[in-house]
Amino acid sequence: MTDASPWWRSAAIYQIYPRSYADGNADGVGDIAGIRSRLAHLRDLGVDALWISPWYVSPMADAGYDVADYRDIDPLFGTLREAEELIAQAHSLGLRVIVDLVPNHCSDQHPWFQAALTAGPGSPERSRFHFRPGRGESGALPPNDWPSHFGGPAWQRVTEADGTPGEWYLHLFAPGQPDFNWDSPAVRAEFESILRFWFDRGVDGFRIDVADNLVKHPGLPDLAAIPEGAPSPVSDQDGVHEVYRAWRRIADSYDGERIFVGELWVADRQRFIRYLRADELHTGFNFPFLQAEWSAERMRAVIDDTLAGHTQIGAPATWVLSNHDTTRHVTRYGRADSGYGFDRRRLHGTPVDLPTGTRRARAAALLTMALPGCVYVYQGDELGLWEVEDIPEHLIQDPAFHGTDGADPGRDGCRVPIPWEGDAPPFGFNGPDTHGDGTEPWLPQPAVWKEYTVAAQTGDPDSMLELYRRALRLRRAEPGLGDGPMRWLPTDDDGVLAFTRPGGLTCVVNFSRRPVELPPHEAVLLSSNGFDEGRLPPDSTVWLRT
Ligand code: GLC
Repeated sequence: MTDASPWWRSAAIYQIYPRSYADGNADGVGDIAGIRSRLAHLRDLGVDALWISPWYVSPMADAGYDVADYRDIDPLFGTLREAEELIAQAHSLGLRVIVDLVPNHCSDQHPWFQAALTAGPGSPERSRFHFRPGRGESGALPPNDWPSHFGGPAWQRVTEADGTPGEWYLHLFAPGQPDFNWDSPAVRAEFESILRFWFDRGVDGFRIDVADNLVKHPGLPDLAAIPEGAPSPVSDQDGVHEVYRAWRRIADSYDGERIFVGELWVADRQRFIRYLRADELHTGFNFPFLQAEWSAERMRAVIDDTLAGHTQIGAPATWVLSNHDTTRHVTRYGRADSGYGFDRRRLHGTPVDLPTGTRRARAAALLTMALPGCVYVYQGDELGLWEVEDIPEHLIQDPAFHGTDGADPGRDGCRVPIPWEGDAPPFGFNGPDTHGDGTEPWLPQPAVWKEYTVAAQTGDPDSMLELYRRALRLRRAEPGLGDGPMRWLPTDDDGVLAFTRPGGLTCVVNFSRRPVELPPHEAVLLSSNGFDEGRLPPDSTVWLRT
C-alpha cells in the first residue's frame, strides 16, 4: 500500500454490529460503552477503520435500520456525547470511523412520518413518503404488487384522522420502515443536512443502506407489468445518481478524504460501476464475490469480472465475505452448496462440515487480503465464528423471520454476541468482570465458543485470530498489497489460482482436492493451513515471496 494513495483505496474495514459487539452496561445488548472498552481489539487486529451499523434512535423494528432520529443515539446504545467520544478515541488509536446511513426509509415513529399520518391525504407531509389510495372498490387492495423483503405486500393501509380506513404507504422492508419519497426536495435537503451533522462530528465516511433503492420508477408500476428482462421499477433507477453526486460534493468539501461505501445489490457489473464514477460513491460492496461458491472457476470468474469493471471506472474493488445480513462464510463454505442467495430457507439447517468451512474461511481470508482494493471483516470473522442455526424461535428478533411466519430463518444466526473471554456464556460480552453475571445476551451463544473467544485464541499460532492478525499486519507492511495491479500466473491444475502483486508477493489458492506443488519462491510469508510434505494442501492459501 503506497502512502500516496488515499486510505480508502486499500483499507481493511471492520464491521461492528453494535447490538452484538460488546455490552458496556450489562443489559444484554451491546452498546457504545462496550465498543469503547473493546477498541484495543481492533487496533491489535490491524484494521484501518470501523463501520458501525446503525446506532440512532430507533424502535428497533429492524435492529436499528428503522431510524426515528438521525441526529441522536438510541438510549440502548448510549448518548451522542459517547458517540463523539468514541469517534475521538478511535481516531487517537489510528482508526477511522464509518457510520451507517439509512436513507431509503425511516421508522414509522419518525416525526415526519407521524406528521404525515396526521396531516392526511394530499398534504405536503405525505409527499415526503409514498402514500397512495388503495385499489379495488373500497381501496382495500394495495396500490401495486410490490412485495416487502420481509414478507407480505410492501404496502400498509393507514387509518385516517376520522377513523376511516385510508391511504396506503410503501415500505420495501418492515411496515415500521416507511420509504421516503426521494422526489421530494425536503427529503434531499434533510439528508444533506444529516451528512453534515455527522461529518461535523468527525466521521470519516458513511455506509449507505440499500443505496440502489432510494429512487423508484415514477408511477410505481406493477412488477407484473414489467416485460421480462426490463429494469426493475424498485431499484437502480437512473435518478439515484444525482443524489450521490450532491452527496459527493458535500464529502469533498470536508478535509481528510471522507468517503461513501454503498450497499449495492446490483448484479449487473456495468450498472454497478456507475455508482463508483469519480463524482459519486467511492466504493461499493462486492456482493457477487460474497455469493460465489468455493471453486477456482467461480472465484476466478468473479474476480476477473470485479477487476475489469473497477479498472474501467478507476475505483478500488472491495472484498467482503460476510456481514450482518448473510450466512456466515464458515457455514457457507462448509456446505455442499457453498454459494449464497437470498433464499436462506433453501440451505438453512442442511449439513455443514465446520472443519472444512473453517479451512476454507482461512484460505478465503488470505485470498481477499491479497486481492487489489479494500477488504471488509465482519465482527466474528476473525474468530472463525459460524452461523448459529439453532436459536430457539421465541428468542429470534429478525423481522425477516417474523414477517414470513418463520419461513425465512432470518439473520439472527450471524448476529450472535461476540465471545471475548472466559469459559461460559456470556464470555465477557457483558464486560471483563461479569462472566456469567448480568443479564443474558440478547441472543444465546453456543457453549463451545469457549474455544473461540478472543482470549482463548490470542497467542495460539493456529487460531483464526492470529492468522487474521498476521495477515493484516503483513498486508499493511507490504507495499504491493491493497490498491494496485495484480497478474494471474499460469497453474498446472485448474483447481488452483495463483496471482502476483508488485514487490514479488505471490498468492496461491488451492481449491482442488489434492495437495499441489508450490511455484518457485524465495520464502513463505504466510500460509492458511500449513503444508503437506512441502505441498499446498486442499482448501489452502499461501503467500510467497517470489
Ligand atoms: C440493509 C441492511 C439490513 C436491513 C435493510 C433494511 O439491507 O443491511 O440489515 O434490514 O437494509 O434497512
